[in-house]
Amino acid sequence: MASVLTIRGGVPLTGKVPVRGAKNLVPKAMVASLLASDASVLRNVPEIRDVEIVTSLLRLHGVEVSKDPVTGDLTLDPTNVKTAQMKDIDAHAGDSRIPILFCGPLIHAIGEAFIPDLGGCRIGDRPIDYHLDVLRQFGAIVDKRPGGISISAPKGLKGAKLTLPYPSVGATEQVLLTATRAEGITELSGAAIEPEIMDLIAVLQKMGAIISVQTDRVIRIEGVPELVGFNHRALPDRNEAASWASAALVTKGDIYVEGANQGDLTAFLNTYRKIGGAFDIDDDGIRFYHPGGSLSPLVLETDVHPGFMTDWQQPLVVALTQAEGVSIVHETVYENRFGFTEALIRMGANIQVHRECLGSIPCRFGQRNFLHSAVISGPTQLSGAEIDIPDLRGGFSHLIAALAATGTSRVTGIELINRGYEHFQSKLEGLGADFDVE
Ligand code: EPZ
Repeated sequence: MASVLTIRGGVPLTGKVPVRGAKNLVPKAMVASLLASDASVLRNVPEIRDVEIVTSLLRLHGVEVSKDPVTGDLTLDPTNVKTAQMKDIDAHAGDSRIPILFCGPLIHAIGEAFIPDLGGCRIGDRPIDYHLDVLRQFGAIVDKRPGGISISAPKGLKGAKLTLPYPSVGATEQVLLTATRAEGITELSGAAIEPEIMDLIAVLQKMGAIISVQTDRVIRIEGVPELVGFNHRALPDRNEAASWASAALVTKGDIYVEGANQGDLTAFLNTYRKIGGAFDIDDDGIRFYHPGGSLSPLVLETDVHPGFMTDWQQPLVVALTQAEGVSIVHETVYENRFGFTEALIRMGANIQVHRECLGSIPCRFGQRNFLHSAVISGPTQLSGAEIDIPDLRGGFSHLIAALAATGTSRVTGIELINRGYEHFQSKLEGLGADFDVE
């Protein structure tokens, strides 16, 4: 049921929020359970839409998924894995991009896979050419069908020497989930090495995989004939932690993010400090707060890990609208990730988007028609507005803008937020936000 939030702004957010397993790891570890000959246990699992979607897709394929009513831990038993009906897969896939990662595991388990056309956030074309290309190099036959792609490997999957044109997180996961049980050695150059990738490698290693991460983004996998179930506690969601940190800055608040891990947030913490945000780190989490005084503008360029993560820029742009001066953000990972600024401009922000690469290095989107650089002048007073949430992270930025604005905002499309932020309405209540749900 589509809810509508009516937010009365101007209230600093103060208090504590727990952050649990990373949205961008947990669904992938769930898919990895398909590769095992027995059951796996996944812990620190958040109650988010993406986990629900993958749970129903796994059950569709005969995997027994049970959830501990107290801890939320998942037990995933692939013993009776089977082919699912195309129409059913399509109905369950929703707007998630995870189904593409079922290819390798399903081919290893039952010799075939049907992947429905993918959904995901409206932040760019989100192609899957890298995924299909590496699957073909493993020996898979990829057929485009109405509504999706049918994939099989009559001669099995064999290790390959692969290079990614760009360090794609999803394509790297595709290779890891396919190569671990392929015959022979796979060498992947140009791999993504995000913390979520390293956690997936930890999951696969627990299952019996042999994976080494070499220098210069080279990952080498030695295929093994069998993998066993894992027992794993998912790493915390660094994107949710960074989102609440930006919320503290924008609302002049003070938020303790329980579970935040400094090691996954190094680039974010440096930028947060340069803007004028303050943070205190302890063994159980990080306290983020506005120390008073003015915020400083800066020049920011998103990048793959260990650079400043693209998922962190939308909530932080709201803080930059409150900085004293001109900031520049060059988004180099996605071509169309500034759509959310339209609502901020209606609220009073001063933001221009440009097609030039306004950063130190020219990126893949330079001199094409992608508005992938933003110039933000502040500080500007934000006023409440009617807002329809465009995507997950842009949506969170709209929420914190509305919480900081003077007056009332009416926010629709908030079910998109449920995809990646666990219990966010109760978290907002706990932080003292003044809002109603219709
Ligand atoms: C993952 O998306 C995350 N999603 C994204 O988080 C994150 O922003 C992104 O990685 C980058 O870190 C999940 O893990 C579910 P990519 P993914 O493949 O794997 C191009 C969020 O808000 N590309 O690394 O889909 C692509 O167009 C989401 O939590 C191809 O051209 O991202 C993009 O420009 C948003 N062809 C770049 O690579 C391909 O076949 C990076 O994409 C695949 C990707």
